[in-house]
Amino acid sequence: MSEVKFDFTGKNFVVVGASSGMGRQTAFELAESGAHVLAIARNAARLSAVRDKYPNLIETAQIDVTNASDDQWTDLISLFVRRHGKLHGAVYTAGTTGTTSLRLHDGVDARNIMETGFWGAMKSLEITTKKKYSHEGAAYVVFSSIAAYGGGRGMLVYSGTKAAVQAAVHSIAREISERKQRINSISPGWVETEMTENYLEHMGQSSQEISGGCFGKGKPRDVTGMVLFLLSDRASWITGVDFIVDGGCMFGT
Ligand SMILES: NC(=O)c1ccc[n+]([C@@H]2O[C@H](COP(=O)([O-])OP(=O)(O)OC[C@H]3O[C@@H](n4cnc5c(N)ncnc54)[C@H](OP(=O)(O)O)[C@@H]3O)[C@@H](O)[C@H]2O)c1
Repeated sequence: MSEVKFDFTGKNFVVVGASSGMGRQTAFELAESGAHVLAIARNAARLSAVRDKYPNLIETAQIDVTNASDDQWTDLISLFVRRHGKLHGAVYTAGTTGTTSLRLHDGVDARNIMETGFWGAMKSLEITTKKKYSHEGAAYVVFSSIAAYGGGRGMLVYSGTKAAVQAAVHSIAREISERKQRINSISPGWVETEMTENYLEHMGQSSQEISGGCFGKGKPRDVTGMVLFLLSDRASWITGVDFIVDGGCMFGT
């Protein structure tokens, strides 16, 4: 039982990257707080499982953010808005990782990381911030990473993608402030999700080799409290900022 409860009853949010990890947890917590959620990702089976937990509040749509057309985005968002009304915000967590060093550069992987983590976010924001789809005062959250502050070996494209997200957020915050809308980014540390599981498998490492921060490795729920806060009216004076949520990892334990 948490000490803090949010009430998003009757509000409408889009979560991109909602079939696993922190996006899925965000979708669940928004629905638990009474919101209607459009949960977007590629994997149909995992999306169905998300919808089945809150069938009256969560609906799903399949999209691949690396190649979705403007028409696909517009169709999804406009249908959701027709059913429930304009958006009160959106969260973009879709991302993929991979190692791309300067010497062993895989251009296809590199582009996929940037397309998913950056350009997909920009496209979703372009559509979801439109006046016809969003309320004045709507709030947006995009996922960056502590890798943007100091990337490790082989992280050049991932770190660059996440730094680009933060830089874009500064600029977008100014643009959307005209309608009192807000946008912030979140930089998690090591959180146990499908992404980190796949990363460890790819690197041939075990979970025991990762210590995380002062408070160890995180769970999605350790980060999503910040997401809900930033979407809420308690954050109405906060925009254009990156929030590090990493269990103390940046302090180098
Ligand atoms: N976990 C960490 O330790 C950590 C640390 C720092 C930052 N982050 C960032 O936090 C965000 C969430 O990470 P996570 O660990 O929760 O990841 P995750 O469990 O792998 O979830 C990623 C989500 O993105 C979706 N996705 C990936 N590629 C997509 C595409 N082309 N089109 C549409 N959806 C796509 C996935 O769904 P489908 O596969 O169904 O499409 C999934 O729902 C990411 O941006 C990640 O870079 C994570």
